[in-house]
Amino acid sequence: MKHATAPAPETSTPEPVGTPRAVETRASSRPVTLLDLEPRTDTFLEEALAGLRRPSGQRTLPCKFFYDRRGSRLFDKICELPEYYPTRTELGIMREHAPAMGRACGRDAMIVEFGSGSSLKTRLLLEHLPRPSACVPVDISRAHLLEAAETLADAFPAIEILPVCADFTQPFHLPTPRRASSRRVVYFPGSTIGNFTPAQARPLLARIADLVGERGGLLIGVDLKKDPAVLERAYNDAAGVTAAFNLNLLVRMNHELGASFDLDGFRHRAVYDEVNGRVEMRIVSLRPQRARVGDEAFEFAADEVIVTEYSHKYTVPQFAELAREVGLELQETWRDPASLFAVLYLSQQRGRA
Ligand code: AVI
Repeated sequence: MKHATAPAPETSTPEPVGTPRAVETRASSRPVTLLDLEPRTDTFLEEALAGLRRPSGQRTLPCKFFYDRRGSRLFDKICELPEYYPTRTELGIMREHAPAMGRACGRDAMIVEFGSGSSLKTRLLLEHLPRPSACVPVDISRAHLLEAAETLADAFPAIEILPVCADFTQPFHLPTPRRASSRRVVYFPGSTIGNFTPAQARPLLARIADLVGERGGLLIGVDLKKDPAVLERAYNDAAGVTAAFNLNLLVRMNHELGASFDLDGFRHRAVYDEVNGRVEMRIVSLRPQRARVGDEAFEFAADEVIVTEYSHKYTVPQFAELAREVGLELQETWRDPASLFAVLYLSQQRGRA
């Protein structure tokens, strides 16, 4: 299951947000201690209104709100679709190269996963790490994080699991593992970095560089540029799962924000923008219409577009250059045979604290 990852704001908060609070989890065969930084999760109305108040033709809705219970289930289905290659391709790369990735991370590393840590990919990595000092899954969804952390704790009894409930696009504290680590490595799988514009990705990568410190690392999944027809098929699947996932934003607004979108009045469409190197997920108005959100009414023209998500695609040199700008140097690259997807290991070279 996927959870909300908020593209970073253009300006970043200088200090870590929230107060660390240790919480014992419910009884399990191996209890874990949660560091709860109480991220804000109640911004749906304000963020939806901000996007819809933009001039007609430039309207947006934030992709992080795709992932309610229904949206998360739809995303899981997307990952299994024949057209949606990224998940199975990244998993194939992990299966093939996890031992080399473990060696790149090195002995006694502390792994900080951006995301819940429950995936098969994380398990593959943990299985191949030489004596990791701890694994720190970071997720904004407390319930999902706890469940995933307990599963990991049971599967890896020798590894200290230290879940942190936080919005990883904002600065946050890391817990101290019982056993000292040789370095910190952020694991950021799933090509989620593609959902941030380069202007948003740069400060996020800079914060990762700060978090891991000198000689720390970043192991990241990046979706690569390829034939636009392949990309458009991946985001306009024949079974209509991606359409339901995208339009779920309107369903959620109707249920949770008292909005009045006519669900038959809009359709899904994903388009590859060659200039910006990204898939644009769109909701298109089928006719002139009006919808209310909270106390505000919005007019939509026929064919008017609301952009709900960008999914940026990179070449390896493009991504390496973006990361280099913030002090992360590319060390190793693993790809599938068709070069659809890459997993990169970068290390912090700037001596950041
Ligand atoms: C989560 N993220 C990497 C997915 C992507 O491919 O950009 C979200 C997604 N949107 C539509 N299909 C999948």
